[in-house]
Amino acid sequence: MGNILIVGGSRGIGYSIVKLLSDKHNVFVASRTSENLSNLDCKYINFDALSDENINSQLPESIDGLVYCPGSINLKPFKSLKAEDFLNDFNINVIGAIKVIQSVIDKLRISESASVVLFSTVAVKIGMPFHSSVSSAKAAIEGLTKSLAAEYAPKVRFNCISLSLVKTELADKFLNTDLKIEKAEQRHPLNSVGNANDIAFLVDYLLSKKSKWMSGQIIGLDGGLSSLKTN
Ligand SMILES: NC(=O)c1ccc[n+]([C@@H]2O[C@H](COP(=O)([O-])OP(=O)(O)OC[C@H]3O[C@@H](n4cnc5c(N)ncnc54)[C@H](OP(=O)(O)O)[C@@H]3O)[C@@H](O)[C@H]2O)c1
Repeated sequence: MGNILIVGGSRGIGYSIVKLLSDKHNVFVASRTSENLSNLDCKYINFDALSDENINSQLPESIDGLVYCPGSINLKPFKSLKAEDFLNDFNINVIGAIKVIQSVIDKLRISESASVVLFSTVAVKIGMPFHSSVSSAKAAIEGLTKSLAAEYAPKVRFNCISLSLVKTELADKFLNTDLKIEKAEQRHPLNSVGNANDIAFLVDYLLSKKSKWMSGQIIGLDGGLSSLKTN
């Protein structure tokens, strides 16, 4: 049993992580809303990752696991993107994560075996049109993962899961018709898009001592999209 902080655990992938972990850990969920959490055994902290709020005082002395879930999928032609669009994506994906990690790093260092999990996109590895803003931000997350993994080894482990499309509200505009779902499934060698539970299982492993020899890794969880060519 450890103290696990899930930033963005009220919906989507974060919510699946909270459901999976709340029976076996003390789970703290920091997000802007909490409606979905009422039946789960977790402590809710009202928090906006775009603000300067510090959640430190609402957390125990030591934190064993941190997952940062807020993110974006703003796909637009490069020419139509303004500097502000890039900054917005950078703020929620990168600066938000940096502020949370900075605020709890001393608590992570107190833990016997602390682990941090961040999220990236498959578009950083394989390059996809219209992804320039989000993939710039997520490439920064991958760099941050490796840099912090080196800086805080051996005390705190940092790993990053690089995702393709997962059925959540964030991806809804790409999966809101049967035709879109079918086409998205066909693009993946494993013939399906991701399910939030698929991601939660890997996060559970990365937070646990079973992954104690793993740090600084960018792990593809993408239905085979980034590494297989089947036709
Ligand atoms: N879904 C995909 O297809 C996909 C693909 C590639 C990468 N990813 C990455 O995977 C991660 C999780 O994605 P998801 O699909 O689960 O996203 P999601 O469905 O949008 O859920 C995001 C979670 O973060 C919270 N959140 C959003 N903005 C916040 C803010 N300003 N402050 C505090 N909490 C905030 C939300 O809760 P509140 O609204 O209650 O605050 C929610 O709990 C993201 O980093 C995303 O970029 C997802």
